[in-house]
Amino acid sequence: MRLKEGLLSIVLPVFVAAAWNVPPEYGLIPSSDGRFLRNTNGRPFFWQADTAWLLFHRLNYTEAETYLSDRASKGFNVVLAVGFTQIGITSPNRNGDLPFVSKDVEQPNEPYWAYIDSIVELAWNKGIRICMVPAWGQYVHDSANNPSVLTASTAPTFGHFIGQRYPYLPKILVADTNPWWENKTAVKADYAAGGVPPTYQVVDWSPVYDALAMGIVAGEQDAIGNGTAWSPLLTIHPTNQWFSGGPLGFASAFLGDRSWLTLDSCQSGHTDFPPNPPIPWWNARRGWEPIEQMYAAGAQQGARVRPVLDNEAHYENRYNNGNGANPWWNASDVRTGSWQAVFSGAAGLTYGADAVMQFAIPGLYAPDGSGPSDDWLADLALQGSGQIQWVRRAIMDRGDAAYFQRVPAQDIIMGDAGADDKRVTAMRDSAGSWIMVYTPTGKPFSIDTASLVSACDGTQASWFNPLDGTYRTFGFVCPGPGVPSGTNSVVTFTPPVEDGHVDWTLVLELRN
Ligand SMILES: *[C@@H]1O[C@H](CO)[C@@H](O)[C@H](O)[C@H]1NC(C)=O
Ligand SMILES: *[C@@H]1O[C@H](CO)[C@@H](O)[C@H](O)[C@H]1NC(C)=O
Ligand SMILES: *[C@@H]1O[C@H](CO)[C@@H](O)[C@H](O)[C@H]1NC(C)=O
Ligand SMILES: *[C@@H]1O[C@H](CO)[C@@H](O)[C@H](O)[C@H]1NC(C)=O
Repeated sequence: MRLKEGLLSIVLPVFVAAAWNVPPEYGLIPSSDGRFLRNTNGRPFFWQADTAWLLFHRLNYTEAETYLSDRASKGFNVVLAVGFTQIGITSPNRNGDLPFVSKDVEQPNEPYWAYIDSIVELAWNKGIRICMVPAWGQYVHDSANNPSVLTASTAPTFGHFIGQRYPYLPKILVADTNPWWENKTAVKADYAAGGVPPTYQVVDWSPVYDALAMGIVAGEQDAIGNGTAWSPLLTIHPTNQWFSGGPLGFASAFLGDRSWLTLDSCQSGHTDFPPNPPIPWWNARRGWEPIEQMYAAGAQQGARVRPVLDNEAHYENRYNNGNGANPWWNASDVRTGSWQAVFSGAAGLTYGADAVMQFAIPGLYAPDGSGPSDDWLADLALQGSGQIQWVRRAIMDRGDAAYFQRVPAQDIIMGDAGADDKRVTAMRDSAGSWIMVYTPTGKPFSIDTASLVSACDGTQASWFNPLDGTYRTFGFVCPGPGVPSGTNSVVTFTPPVEDGHVDWTLVLELRN
């Protein structure tokens, strides 16, 4: 065969390998019982994610370094960022590069993705994994249900590119939409006009999700070698259901029977009032609710157990419902939602700051109006971003062995636990070495301590401060060892009084 040199450049593969090879240690896998996450070496991994949808698109390298350094210093170990962003197929990134050649999702534009490689590597060097959202949901279908550029025929190629280039990265398919969709534009218009919503055709887009997922799985397999068994951490990022009668908005409700779905997730969102009844929805003051439901779904006979996460709870500094007529969510709201979700069974938490997730830059990128800030650098310093690391700390401080044994323990709270974001939430070690209880109100509460296995004098009690991660140990009157469940083992605890906050976490732990 004669091969001219000039021809070589033409037959070179379109998809050049990434400049940086993602190491196998990057991978995250479910724990053996499926409830939590671990590193490939088996050690616990508590997901503490920040939301940075437009990181690759809007920040230059210097700014990305500032961003990632700040997040690393606050204990974040995952950052959610989008490859093919919601800004549009014709919108260049900060460097002026478009995601695709000729608006063709089967022809990635090398400089655009090479820049992403450099940020993925930079993050890894700071101990942060990127959770890659290959493409925003609008590229499957738009709000009115018109198809877009990702189809059952183009998604395998794009998915393969993503998988082969970014093996081991956790991935969220097509954010902010659902596999089943109805014409939301029309539904909203009907509600705004005060009418009863007619039933529009529901389109099932899950073949596109499957095509993208299977492309990714195949691409990763090609990248890491065909003899190595590997299942990427893959989920979807569902949104509110805009019509009644469909599956609830969590990944497993739509795609629970798919082997590629290895992580369950939901979006409890930013609103504490219903969009329009009877649409099923999540209340931002009750982010623990979908967590509890996903956790319970995994426990059902015949169901596959998956780790569960809320990947979009109320962002700090975002207006309630994204509407400037309402107050914005603050650090206290974010702390409460995070502790309640984790104690309800989540494998971690995902934080967001409103101007950061979109990277509003004064004079360059105007904010979308959903929060009071127009500057990502200002929102980078929001208090909640420094406080939610203490959720992870409290869990990790109980030790590696107990990490995989924790179970939600709402049943140990005696009397009324409270509703919504006033709810007292408990978790315990199923082997009996600790109990933790988060109270958002500072009011006394009573718990049944019977699950603690050892002698009373061995139990250390502390108040853990969710604002700074410090413990204050204190003595308490213990009901006695091995006391059977019931009135004798019930103890009432009164949180400390301190200016500025009322939320505390009780830690009862056996010391040997
Ligand atoms: C990024 O942008 C900032 C602000 O405009 C500028 O100071 C910095 O030099 C830029 N860095 C790069 C690598 O372009
Ligand atoms: C969706 O509804 C809007 C508003 O009624 C309408 O203009 C549009 O044509 C509809 N789109 C589809 C795909 O049905
Ligand atoms: C795995 O197999 C595919 C196709 O069979 C091939 O293209 C790819 O190069 C292989 N990967 C490795 C790392 O050997
Ligand atoms: C935070 O917002 C809640 C309402 O969501 C409010 O009750 C609380 O007082 C606010 N906290 C601070 C410190 O502003």
